[in-house]
Amino acid sequence: MFDLSKVTIDNFTYLSETTSTIDVIKDMAKKGAEEYTCCLAEVQTKGRGRFQRVWQTYPYKSLAFSFLLYDFQEVVPLVLCCSLHRVLNEKYKAKVAIKWPNDIYYDNKKLSGILVESYPLSNNKRAYVVGIGLNIFIDEDKLDMVGFLQDATSVEISREILLVDLFEQIKKDIQLLKVDGFVPFKQYFMQNCLFVNQEITITNNDKLDNGIFVGINDNGYLILKQKEVILDISAGQIVQEK
Ligand code: BTN
Repeated sequence: MFDLSKVTIDNFTYLSETTSTIDVIKDMAKKGAEEYTCCLAEVQTKGRGRFQRVWQTYPYKSLAFSFLLYDFQEVVPLVLCCSLHRVLNEKYKAKVAIKWPNDIYYDNKKLSGILVESYPLSNNKRAYVVGIGLNIFIDEDKLDMVGFLQDATSVEISREILLVDLFEQIKKDIQLLKVDGFVPFKQYFMQNCLFVNQEITITNNDKLDNGIFVGINDNGYLILKQKEVILDISAGQIVQEK
C-alpha cells in the first residue's frame, strides 16, 4: 500500500506496474513535462541498472522512482548520492556509506543505486532522467549481496515520508550545486566514501586498473595513484579492495 495523500511532490505519478519509471519519465519529457516530474512504480518489468544490469525492485518494500532534469552537470549523480546519504544518515541514523561513483552501501551490501539516462528532445534540448532504486524492507527472495535500509536503522520507516524527504534533499542539493558548485559536496562525498586511501581495483568494459584511491576531482572522477602515474577515472566499478 502506498498512501498518496502523504506524498507532497508536484507532478507525481504512482504506478503499480510499468516497464521502467525511466521510460515513463522519458515519454513525459517528450510531451514537455516540467523539471522534477517524478514517477514511482511498485513493479518494473524492465528495471535496469548501470552496466546494462537488471535492477530488481521489491514491490511495497522498496522505492523505485525516476525524475526529470533539463539542466545537468556530470557531477549530479555524485551530488545525489550525497543527498541520499545525508537523509539516511541524519534522519534514519543509518551508518551507510557511499561507494564511488553513486551507490549507497550498508555492511558491504548495496542498498541503493542511481542511473541517469539522457535523451535528445525535438527542441534541441536534452532530457536527463534520473532513476533511483532503494531497498527498504527485507524480502525473502533477496540475493545475498543486496542490502535493506531496515537492517541499518531502528527508526520507523514510512516509504512515503522517506520519498518526500529524499526528494526535498535532492532538490535542495541540485540548487546548491548550481550556486556553489561541487566543492561542498566533494568534501562530504570523500568523508563518507568507502575505500579512500586504500588499494582498489576498478573495472570498466573489461579494463582493470589497480592503485590507491586518493580522491575525486572537480568532475567527480576517481583519482587513482599508481606507482608511476596518477589516473583520473570517469566511470567504472570498484570490484576489489585489499
Ligand atoms: C545501479 O546501481 O545500477 C542503478 C540502479 C537504478 C535503479 C532505478 S529503480 C528506478 C529507475 N528505473 C530503472 O529501471 N532503474 C532506476
